[in-house]
Amino acid sequence: MHPLFVANWKMNMTGSAVRDYATSFRNAFTARDGNVIDAVFAPPYTAIAAVADALGSTPGVAVGAQNVHWLDSGPHTGEISPVMLRELGVRYAIVGHSERRQVYGETDEFVSRRAKNAIKHNIRPIVCVGEALYFEHDNDAASGIVREQLRGSLKGLNDEEAKLLVVAYEPVWAIGTGRAATPDIVARVHHTVRSVLRDLFDATGQSVPILYGGSTTPDNISAIMLQKDVNGALVGSTSLKPDEFAELIKRGRSAQQ
Ligand code: PGA
Repeated sequence: MHPLFVANWKMNMTGSAVRDYATSFRNAFTARDGNVIDAVFAPPYTAIAAVADALGSTPGVAVGAQNVHWLDSGPHTGEISPVMLRELGVRYAIVGHSERRQVYGETDEFVSRRAKNAIKHNIRPIVCVGEALYFEHDNDAASGIVREQLRGSLKGLNDEEAKLLVVAYEPVWAIGTGRAATPDIVARVHHTVRSVLRDLFDATGQSVPILYGGSTTPDNISAIMLQKDVNGALVGSTSLKPDEFAELIKRGRSAQQ
């Protein structure tokens, strides 16, 4: 499967900072094959138009968002609709990131509804799952939690819809901590994720990309990408540095060649 690398800028970067970022990224990045997406940028909503303008036509690059609503319009202060995102050229949307689950009370049910409506509008949802800090040292419990979260977060999606699905495994204890999961943990949990996807969606489940996220850098990406069922990465802080993000993509891709 062609590896996918998603930049999650979180609440960082302004529209005016995008131009310099884009110039550096384009200088450092080469698309593997212009017809497939290697890199997705998920900026804050206010910078989406700037990213679409500066990077949207770069081969191998697509524009993303950090959330998407389950309805197309209505009285939902502070939310964003897939119709609005499509108008800006958005093709991917992160849903159920642990920061949203933990701080803003996002539930599996809401995540599944967001994913379903994204797909309806031809936006690929990147559904995030991952165990909390507490489970850092208990791999079996981690796999069990991820299995349940994933089933809840994908409820109501059918095989056809799953063709647009992307899943990200992000252990909460590895996010922004500088302590990425070991390749062994990544391999074990990704194996669980793959088996749930096959259970839910049969053959389609085999081709859903599974990304790893949590403190990835150019130095640790190769060992992670060498594990079975790792099809890319969801990258936070490293993605704020254009040269480092391009280098992470390069090394991550070559680990799988
Ligand atoms: P990090 O964030 O790479 O900074 O750990 C990953 C994420 O939260 O998606």
